[in-house]
Amino acid sequence: MPQPFCTLGGLRDVESFRRYLAEHRIDIPCDEELISGAASPLAQPLDVGRTKVGNRIVAHPMEGWDGTRDGRPTELTFRRWERFGASGAKLIWGGEAVAVRHDGRANPNQLVINDHSRVDLSRLRETLVAAHKRAVGSDAGLIVGLQLTHSGRYSRPNAHDRPEPKILYHHPILDSRLNIPTDYPVLTDHQVKEIIEDFYKAAVVAAQAGFDFVDIKHCHGYLGHELLSAHTRAGEFGGSFENRTRFLREVAAGIRAASPSLSIAVRLSAFDTIPFRKDSSAEGVAESTDGLLPFRWGFGVNAENPLEPDLSEPIKFLSLLRELDVQLVNISAGSPYYNPHIQRPASYPPSDGYSAPEDPLMGVARQMRITRELKQQFPELVVIGSAYSYLQEFLPYVAQAAIREGWTDCVGVGRMMLAYPSLLLDVIQGRTLQRKLVCRTFSDCTTAPRAGLPSGCYPLDPHYKNSPSATELKKVKTQDKDK
Ligand SMILES: Cc1cc2nc3c(=O)[nH]c(=O)nc-3n(C[C@H](O)[C@H](O)[C@H](O)COP(=O)(O)O)c2cc1C
Repeated sequence: MPQPFCTLGGLRDVESFRRYLAEHRIDIPCDEELISGAASPLAQPLDVGRTKVGNRIVAHPMEGWDGTRDGRPTELTFRRWERFGASGAKLIWGGEAVAVRHDGRANPNQLVINDHSRVDLSRLRETLVAAHKRAVGSDAGLIVGLQLTHSGRYSRPNAHDRPEPKILYHHPILDSRLNIPTDYPVLTDHQVKEIIEDFYKAAVVAAQAGFDFVDIKHCHGYLGHELLSAHTRAGEFGGSFENRTRFLREVAAGIRAASPSLSIAVRLSAFDTIPFRKDSSAEGVAESTDGLLPFRWGFGVNAENPLEPDLSEPIKFLSLLRELDVQLVNISAGSPYYNPHIQRPASYPPSDGYSAPEDPLMGVARQMRITRELKQQFPELVVIGSAYSYLQEFLPYVAQAAIREGWTDCVGVGRMMLAYPSLLLDVIQGRTLQRKLVCRTFSDCTTAPRAGLPSGCYPLDPHYKNSPSATELKKVKTQDKDK
């Protein structure tokens, strides 16, 4: 049976939370008291190249599955970006994943960047900036990027329930999960080069739309991330570390040539584990690796025991980023498709997930520890940490301690941004925290899009809670339970 874990909402105060961490030997830093005003660690400015970012709060990219069929934003998209702006975060990491071409969309509602959507993307950015100014009085120190993606193995450009994978190699576990036959074609080197060109063409559009940087996405199982684990691929983009990072180097070179003023950032799944699945009691278990060792289909995993991270290649990757003058790095892990407990620890699994095989706090602690190790090795990079939302009301105490003690430069906020965007701004501005707005990680923001519905905070945000999509979502969840 899945094990019950401590319900954080049931802990009386931060002292009880600190005691729980100590008793369970979970290494997460946590302050006893919050500091507001200019002395708040969260309010400290940060130099990124010649730019000063106004505080340490980052809005992670959070897709809404709510664009038009031709890849443009809708009212829901504008509303989400407005809330990102009003959150007070001074570093907006991409807004959301935006596909560089139609066949690389993760769903038919993902935004697409091209000449056709330039004006809309520019309006999205302006909406965010205006909301930010209204919330905090000025856009000084506000940096806004756009996350560029190709969904690779997880492409579903035409129908939410019709996968049209673009794979770089055959994966012994993921292929069978996705019903990919052994003779399914892998992308050719020529096709990868076309995608590289799409990335730097997209960057030109992003610069024209006023964005300060683009993120060349290398996380969560999508194309950039899959390239890093293409050990078994032949040709220019597989095998050696040099080949597996050729995509990054060529995209970066193309962007530098075409848009010299645009900064480049990378979001990275810095470690991974093998894919997990539901067992008969719905708990998550690792897929068998019998006959698959050494494991040659992962990045940042120990090939002899792929349940464990191995940071030697991620460290080489960060050295490469430094060489390429890419200073902004957002550290994430794994994938929401095949090991969500690693990537976004949660109290309740999404519809395609499984009950947590570990205390979700262990998942938070793992991402924090690895982010800290990487930050220590690369003090000159600006490092953003992920996976804080599970901490719920204790997020601000942990965020403050993590920044104060140098575990990370900035704290990225994902799911909490959908539920309670101004949580950390409230700390800086000395306002009482609103417990009723705290994200409880029900995973409806993931379950809804798995059913072809827009993402959003269905339990807490009235805009979604009272929408027709909420009724649909309830039906889907009941059907799932009855299965
Ligand atoms: C609904 C939803 C949408 C997301 N969209 C993106 C995305 O577009 N790009 C990305 O890199 N990560 C995306 N993520 C991952 C988050 O940015 C973040 O890494 C993750 O939720 C863990 O952080 P948290 O604990 O603060 O939620 C998404 C996550 C969720 C739940």
